[in-house]
Amino acid sequence: MVELNGTSAPASDSHTGTQIDQIAVSPTAPDQVANLAQTIASLSKAFTAGEAGARLQLLEAADSLVSALETPRETILRYCWRNPTGFAAIETGINLGIFRYLSDHDRPIPIAELATATASDIVLLQRIMKQLNAVHAVTETGRDEYTSNNFTRTVANTRYADAFPTITGTTSPAITAIPAFLRQTQYQNPTNGLACPFQQGFNTKYSFFDFLSRDPTLSAQFNNLMSVYHQGRASWMDPGFYPVERLTHPSNHTDSGILIVDVGGGKGHDLNEFRAKWPSARGRLILQDQPGVLAEATGLHESIERMPHDFFTEQPCKGSRAYFLHSVLHDWPDDTCLKILAPLRAAMTPGYSRLLINENVIPDRGAHWQATGLDWVMMADFAGAERTEAQWRELLTRAGFRILKIWTGDAWSESLIECEVVE
Ligand SMILES: C[S@@+](CC[C@H](N)C(=O)[O-])C[C@H]1O[C@@H](n2cnc3c(N)ncnc32)[C@H](O)[C@@H]1O
Repeated sequence: MVELNGTSAPASDSHTGTQIDQIAVSPTAPDQVANLAQTIASLSKAFTAGEAGARLQLLEAADSLVSALETPRETILRYCWRNPTGFAAIETGINLGIFRYLSDHDRPIPIAELATATASDIVLLQRIMKQLNAVHAVTETGRDEYTSNNFTRTVANTRYADAFPTITGTTSPAITAIPAFLRQTQYQNPTNGLACPFQQGFNTKYSFFDFLSRDPTLSAQFNNLMSVYHQGRASWMDPGFYPVERLTHPSNHTDSGILIVDVGGGKGHDLNEFRAKWPSARGRLILQDQPGVLAEATGLHESIERMPHDFFTEQPCKGSRAYFLHSVLHDWPDDTCLKILAPLRAAMTPGYSRLLINENVIPDRGAHWQATGLDWVMMADFAGAERTEAQWRELLTRAGFRILKIWTGDAWSESLIECEVVE
């Protein structure tokens, strides 16, 4: 292994200084630009005509066009200061109430008014607003004058805004610690959630969830992020994804039986969604999580039962039709996943109960940055991972399950892995 420690150049550069300077300021893939522009033109028509999937394809093409047109130097700057400072400006804007004020007033707001409303130093506020406009978080309408756009209006709402303090309070320092951590551990895949980049980044001995449980504000912010981050994606319970009738119409399913136990279900947004989309589905819906999280599940439909439960202990709901795990197993390395899966397997009725895992299945090629980025977040915070199909198969086989089918909506959404117990 050849490792560059960041202080010295590689033994032999493949390009001379002049060549590399030229490459650094030339577009990354100029030969792709014309094709991508044509693709964008035709996808724009499909988008305007409201064709399903056109918006996401257009977004992908636009992203590819930016990458092709951008020079390597510009790309470096995008990573090194556009993204981190854009993040910092948005979190500052949230703290100051800038987004809320702009959203509450449907007109261009002069900076002097905004400074009074947010009790801000006007010179600092000018810098904040220029950066927020540069990253499209607000819209500049004139000199020192701004209004809201849809992003502004979204982060004016706490449920969405909380993504920023959550990532600052639970994740960014852990991500920053990754390169040094991997160097120290000689580039071994992290597998210990008590000794991973999280502990280094936050200088703590606690695991992620223990750390979180010690800070009620951060905990509430995290739970808000969890309740909204997957919105706008194909959901497993929507028509054309997973045939929910497979669960709701088995001949031996009764009103009094348990239909779904949502294990580690957070504030219950998945069961709420299920109740709204499948109002006549028979059977009990049970939300399990840690007591502090359940206490925050205030908007839960009255028919959903709350049940505090530690998923490392015996599963109290026996013989449910389905046990649902959404974004739970990715928080843990394989050996710990086996400890979460064992009590579920023991509670399941062979031939009847299903295990439903709602997670990313990383494709063999062309994985999307939302999934690979989340994989790195999992590596940083938990020594966890987003898994490939082969990794899921290996883990679930070890845990005593057979995968019946992996249901996938589209390339941007989490899959539903449907399993049964191997007798
Ligand atoms: C990444 S969140 C996923 C929440 C929800 N399923 C969703 O998709 O939004 C993981 C959840 O696991 C819960 N959790 C962590 N450790 C747990 C434990 N030992 N027993 C039960 N739940 C736990 C957390 O409180 C959190 O709500």
